[in-house]
Amino acid sequence: MEPFRKINLKVLERTVVALLASTFLFSAAVECGRDAVGGGVAALESGCRAHRVSLTEFGGVGDGVTSNTEAFRAAVGHLEGASGGGLLYVPAGRWVTGPFNLTSHFTLFLDKDAVLLATTDFDEWPIIDPLPSYGRGRDLSGGRYSNLIMGSNLTDVIITGNNGTIDGQGKVWWDKFHSKELNSTRGYLLELMYSDHVLISNLTFVNSMAWNVHPVYCSNVIVSGITILAPTDSPNTDGINPDSCSGVRIEDCYIVSGDDCIAIKSGWDQYGIKVGLPSEHIVIRRLTCISPTSAVIALGSEMSGGIRNVRAEDITAINSESGVRIKTAIGRGNYVKDVYVRRMNLYTMKWVFWMTGNYGSHPDDMWDPKAIPEVKEIHYSDVVAENVTMAGKLEGIEGAPFKNICISNVTAQVVQSKKPIWNCTYVEGVTSSVSPTPCEALPDKGQACAFPDDRLPVEDVNFCGC
Ligand SMILES: *[C@@H]1O[C@H](CO)[C@@H](O)[C@H](O)[C@H]1NC(C)=O
Ligand SMILES: *[C@@H]1O[C@H](CO)[C@@H](O)[C@H](O)[C@H]1NC(C)=O
Ligand SMILES: *[C@@H]1O[C@H](CO)[C@@H](O)[C@H](O)[C@H]1NC(C)=O
Ligand SMILES: *[C@@H]1O[C@H](CO)[C@@H](O)[C@H](O)[C@H]1NC(C)=O
Ligand SMILES: *[C@@H]1O[C@H](CO)[C@@H](O)[C@H](O)[C@H]1NC(C)=O
Ligand SMILES: *[C@@H]1O[C@H](CO)[C@@H](O)[C@H](O)[C@H]1NC(C)=O
Ligand SMILES: *[C@@H]1O[C@H](CO)[C@@H](O)[C@H](O)[C@H]1NC(C)=O
Ligand SMILES: *[C@@H]1O[C@H](CO)[C@@H](O)[C@H](O)[C@H]1NC(C)=O
Repeated sequence: MEPFRKINLKVLERTVVALLASTFLFSAAVECGRDAVGGGVAALESGCRAHRVSLTEFGGVGDGVTSNTEAFRAAVGHLEGASGGGLLYVPAGRWVTGPFNLTSHFTLFLDKDAVLLATTDFDEWPIIDPLPSYGRGRDLSGGRYSNLIMGSNLTDVIITGNNGTIDGQGKVWWDKFHSKELNSTRGYLLELMYSDHVLISNLTFVNSMAWNVHPVYCSNVIVSGITILAPTDSPNTDGINPDSCSGVRIEDCYIVSGDDCIAIKSGWDQYGIKVGLPSEHIVIRRLTCISPTSAVIALGSEMSGGIRNVRAEDITAINSESGVRIKTAIGRGNYVKDVYVRRMNLYTMKWVFWMTGNYGSHPDDMWDPKAIPEVKEIHYSDVVAENVTMAGKLEGIEGAPFKNICISNVTAQVVQSKKPIWNCTYVEGVTSSVSPTPCEALPDKGQACAFPDDRLPVEDVNFCGC
């Protein structure tokens, strides 16, 4: 094995660390198969990336104080375009950093007890352009603060580890947000734009400034085995938000947050309609969520590129406001359709089913009142809910009812409620074996709701030449 640098004492020391980190882990490529997607410890064990460096080789100091922004940028820069791909290894330590970009054919690996700490020095956070499909920042008009870890126009990117942590140190941002001291929208912990083949796995995200994981205009995205934790009263700390993405698989994630655990989006009113990129072909399975003031899975409210072909199964939620929630408004345009959800176990919920057609919330006054979203083919089955305030609040749009809703095999144990157990306006569909008895708009037709049995291409995506 070649030493990484010319020998001198300092470098020798770094080299030893790097070799220790990599030699016992260098071995033959892992077997390729359905589950060998290239993340986790296998990212080190496989020969997947030809070039490997440790952050310490670029001057990284994991003391919880020193800024490592330049070390991260230099390390990624060093690996950019490396033939056979590159891996950046982050060892145990507390690594303060400002924003940095990733590159293609690249793996970021955070070892056990490696903690990336987003710097709280505001001078390290540049303002970047708003997303074209939103037209402005979400909190405030104009641009937005940079995200912590970013990538644009990439292919084959893996962000993984042995359950290392990415900590947004969000409190300073939440406080300034609440006291209206921020002049731009908060950034996210991880945002990948226009990228294909993205794997995010085996990591923990804590205390994000706002959203945690945000793939936007991406394809073939896998999010697997991640933990996301934020105080349940922290503002807009959504867990995973696939946005105008095609082919997304989210599995085995545990999320506790102050906003939706997962929110599928596709842009805001006229800006999202113009960009015209739907979120589609999405699989969510084995999700556990706690979100007392928001949804387990939200579709919208920004859905102006359309949302279609979403499949969710084996969902567990505790103390959450609603199960799957559809949120839209006149002005959004496009559609939410072909949504299939089965096997949800819910404990302590305000609403089991919630649809909202008048969510409002527009980027500016230029939205088109004729851009009426179409919501149809929404299927829910095999749901058990305990300690629920209301079974369903299903509210479509006058003149554009939500159609072909199907709900089957549901038991919701509703505890004392002043509100009606079901409240349905401008919705049409059927039910079967639903207790308590649903609203008249959803008569019992005795037929179980469908769930597709084909596999989506994203269920078989592999990385690193597997
Ligand atoms: C996550 O880690 C586990 C245990 O190391 C490993 O078996 C699995 O392949 C990893 N998954 C991904 C998608 O990285
Ligand atoms: C990250 O990449 C974007 C464009 O892809 C660029 O505008 C930005 O300056 C880069 N940021 C850093 C810190 O290199
Ligand atoms: C990234 O891809 C988008 C969409 O194809 C394109 O509009 C943009 O110019 C690309 N950006 C860069 C920095 O190549
Ligand atoms: C990863 O770390 C988080 C936070 O400490 C913990 O809750 C979670 O159980 C860990 N996951 C694994 C697979 O060890
Ligand atoms: C926002 O702008 C005001 C007025 O220019 C300034 O005093 C304040 O420091 C800015 N806030 C931040 C967080 O940059
Ligand atoms: C039932 O839900 C209520 C909130 O509606 C909550 O206060 C209470 O703790 C829950 N009971 C149990 C047994 O979880
Ligand atoms: C109804 O749902 C329950 C709970 O998910 C499940 O155990 C049962 O098999 C389902 N019944 C039918 C007929 O599918
Ligand atoms: C049912 O929902 C509609 C639409 O949100 C609302 O106007 C109405 O007050 C609700 N009915 C009851 C009894 O709460």
